[in-house]
Amino acid sequence: MPDLPNGPKGKFRSTLAVVRNPREFFVRSVSSYGDPFLLSAMNGPVVVTGKPEYVEQVFRAPPDTFRVFAREAMLPLLGAGSLLMMEGSQHRAERKRVAPPFHGSCMKAYGRAMQSTAQTAINRREEGETFTGVQIGTEISLDVILQTILGADTGPLLAEFRKLTREVLSRSWPILFFSPKTQFRFFGFSPIDRLKHAQQKLRDQLRIELDRRGDQINERDDILSILARPTEESPAPDFEDLADSVGTLMFAGHETTSVSIAWALYHLHRHPVWLHRLRDELDASDQQPDTYATMPLLKAVVQETLRLNPIVTEVLRVVQSPFQLGAYDIPIGHAVAAASCLTHYDPDIYEAPNDFNPERFLDQTYTPSQYYPFGGGTRRCVGAAFASYELAIVLGTILQSHELDLLDQKEVVPVRRNITMGPSTGVRLRVRSRR
Ligand code: HEM
Repeated sequence: MPDLPNGPKGKFRSTLAVVRNPREFFVRSVSSYGDPFLLSAMNGPVVVTGKPEYVEQVFRAPPDTFRVFAREAMLPLLGAGSLLMMEGSQHRAERKRVAPPFHGSCMKAYGRAMQSTAQTAINRREEGETFTGVQIGTEISLDVILQTILGADTGPLLAEFRKLTREVLSRSWPILFFSPKTQFRFFGFSPIDRLKHAQQKLRDQLRIELDRRGDQINERDDILSILARPTEESPAPDFEDLADSVGTLMFAGHETTSVSIAWALYHLHRHPVWLHRLRDELDASDQQPDTYATMPLLKAVVQETLRLNPIVTEVLRVVQSPFQLGAYDIPIGHAVAAASCLTHYDPDIYEAPNDFNPERFLDQTYTPSQYYPFGGGTRRCVGAAFASYELAIVLGTILQSHELDLLDQKEVVPVRRNITMGPSTGVRLRVRSRR
């Protein structure tokens, strides 16, 4: 068995390169060292691959093969009650609690709220008004996830939660997620102090809301109430764990979707031929949310957007029991990364991989190790069905009702937001007219 693969040296330099532009750094490393290669990161050594046969090994490994990557760095930010931080049997039990309301079969219940939120957001903009795709995407996806979590009957509450969630987000500096060393306290003024302060305000509001609900949580069908009550298999969580869990859903459930909305608007306006074909499909439909979610080209546009711009560029796991990746025995304590930003551009899988071409999803399907914008295996995104449904409905609603102009003349590139990547300009758009 060979030793570990080779890779670039210098922990600090490599970490910085991954923070700045993971795809560029990974492509460069693969061309110098091959796939897989060894990345020395500040959070520990990582064997990175984009080859589907190796990605499959990661996703198919028994669940207890891996621990959570960079748990030490993320724990203070997400909390022990976050699904993202849980491992082993605790993770399996928590998924059983969190996943059911996000199953594909439940989506119909959310469609109307998704459509009306998108319609309100685009109608609010006057002719000639400029805005960014990330702005409108955030407005929509934040309201959608908050309504889903809190319940649709929570108007004034929504405004308060919207403000507090945005405050948390604006203080989530990327570097905080990459090393615990950056999380030093300094009389309330350091980045982590400021983030903690914003998180606490959100928690206080959540506690007020739960106290107000009292026994109503046993009858309500919003996610907050579902997660707050006991199930047959587990008692009700304590408040801190519940707040961690809800915080993760708010954060993971809208940042990613908002950025994807922006990218989809970008690609469609750069490639009007697809925009026109999509409009034909939309105009011929009954414009019901459920119809949008099943329209072939609209679905393909969403899939192609997530292929070209995977919001999470690689999914990571730390090896805790013997694991073989290709010809390598990965030592316990080393991490492995399945890099969608490599696989999604593999010319052996995707012809002309740099081109935006939704057609490739109309006439072909891909395996879970060739296409994985939502990760894979037992940790695959719990919100995947929800996000795909929302993306189709939001794009369908905006494009069916308004003509937009793309103001970005130069190519827009992905830049780091926090754990996720987003478009460098936010994707600048202008309302040309109502249709
Ligand atoms: C376009 C939108 C989205 C993208 C691209 C995305 C992507 C991902 C990825 C790549 C992972 C890691 C999977 C892995 O490690 O294999 C993940 C995990 C997760 N996502 Fe999403 N996500 C999106 C939307 C959502 C939504 C809408 C929600 C909730 C409503 C959500 C909640 C979560 C949670 C809770 C996890 C942790 C799962 C676990 O560790 O078991 N995500 N997501």
